[in-house]
Amino acid sequence: PAPTLISLIFGYLLGSIPFGLILTRMAGLGDVRTIGSGNIGATNVLRTGNKKLAAATLLLDALKGTAAAAIASRWGIEAGLAAGFAAFLGHLYPVWLGFKGGKGIATYIGVLLGLAPISVLVFAAVWLAMAKLTRYSSLSALVATCVVPVVLLASGYGKIGLLFVVMSIITWIKHRANIQRLLAGTESKIGQKG
Ligand code: G3P
Repeated sequence: PAPTLISLIFGYLLGSIPFGLILTRMAGLGDVRTIGSGNIGATNVLRTGNKKLAAATLLLDALKGTAAAAIASRWGIEAGLAAGFAAFLGHLYPVWLGFKGGKGIATYIGVLLGLAPISVLVFAAVWLAMAKLTRYSSLSALVATCVVPVVLLASGYGKIGLLFVVMSIITWIKHRANIQRLLAGTESKIGQKG
């Protein structure tokens, strides 16, 4: 139990670092929460017009999940799962921002990279195909997060698959405003300022 508790705390602390907010502030772009969707993730950082900063946000928000899962996995798979999940929750509910964090897609990908690396290709393939077809970042992520747990479970990743079922459900809940906008036809497309 001790490694699990330490993994949870370690994962949460790592996951709760809001890279999108930090990078945009450091670049003198102000508070990313005041533009576009108000989210702190890479998609919204892209609405500042700075592609490099958006890419860095995606990478760092992902790698914190990878690091949490990979480092804690040294204590066993349960510890890795706990740290990965905690990093994801840390990104969504960071204590530093009054528990108002991001929507979790980058960190989801990062945890996937730490626990079942090959599956990142599944996520990437679905996301890229959907993004090319629709130009909606949120919709692409929502479809990819449906496919990934199914592929994990079908490939024999039992516990990891179940974790990603839970993470997908949580990220869908976090995307409810996006889902409403998609249904209403008012969701902004990738790179659109709106
Ligand atoms: O999954 C993409 C999600 O992060 C959408 O972000 O800023 O369009 O709500 P945003």
